[in-house]
Amino acid sequence: MIPPTSISRLLETDFEELLIIADAILGKNYITQRELENYIGNPSKICFVARTRGEMSGFQQIQICHYNELMTLALSEKSWFNLQFSHNLPIGVLKTIAISTKFQKQGIGTILTKKSLEVLTKSTNNILSICWVLNGVVPYSRILIGCGLAELRKINSLWKKDSLAKKYDCTCCGKPPCLCNAIIYTSTHYS
Ligand SMILES: CC(C)(COP(=O)(O)OP(=O)(O)OC[C@H]1O[C@@H](n2cnc3c(N)ncnc32)[C@H](O)[C@@H]1OP(=O)(O)O)[C@@H](O)C(=O)NCCC(=O)NCCS
Repeated sequence: MIPPTSISRLLETDFEELLIIADAILGKNYITQRELENYIGNPSKICFVARTRGEMSGFQQIQICHYNELMTLALSEKSWFNLQFSHNLPIGVLKTIAISTKFQKQGIGTILTKKSLEVLTKSTNNILSICWVLNGVVPYSRILIGCGLAELRKINSLWKKDSLAKKYDCTCCGKPPCLCNAIIYTSTHYS
């Protein structure tokens, strides 16, 4: 059973708690306070925060992307993203999701994703998620498949250059470069 959990939009007063979860689950500095500031009062960049019994249990960032925003997310794969998606914009992106360790596997990631999709699909039915492969497994895949998305493509070492440029750690690789692979999931009309 899902513990009592509320979902709300990110406030500035949430930054500190969110960054503790992000550093622990994703890697130090992968998400920065500066980045979070872009999610306040921005209709195309939204961050949802889950609170379970009053404590922050997780968060998810989403974005409605037009061409330039999509190219930013594409990192070193700009040509492929351009070919694959630029004829069908905007695209709603399920971006970073992280659930605090003690709250994982209790259904919170699922309710956050459903809320995110509810909001994204008001603007577009084109949905994309760039997922982290952790020790050979995509932890987020069951939720995405359950929400009707499908695997499109694997990208090796997607965050290598970005992690070096922005100097963030990865909870799997440690100090940069991050050599983790990514799998792209999309709404099924892309596959
Ligand atoms: C992946 C993550 C967001 C899932 O959130 P969650 O609240 O733990 O997931 P839920 O309890 O809603 O579980 C939904 C399904 O995902 C599966 N799942 C959750 N964590 C998993 C993991 N680490 N590995 C494999 N499957 C996992 C659950 O078993 C469940 O499957 P089921 O529906 O067949 O029972 C969360 O575990 C997390 O933050 N992980 C670390 C960071 C990460 O990988 N983020 C995703 C980046 S793309």
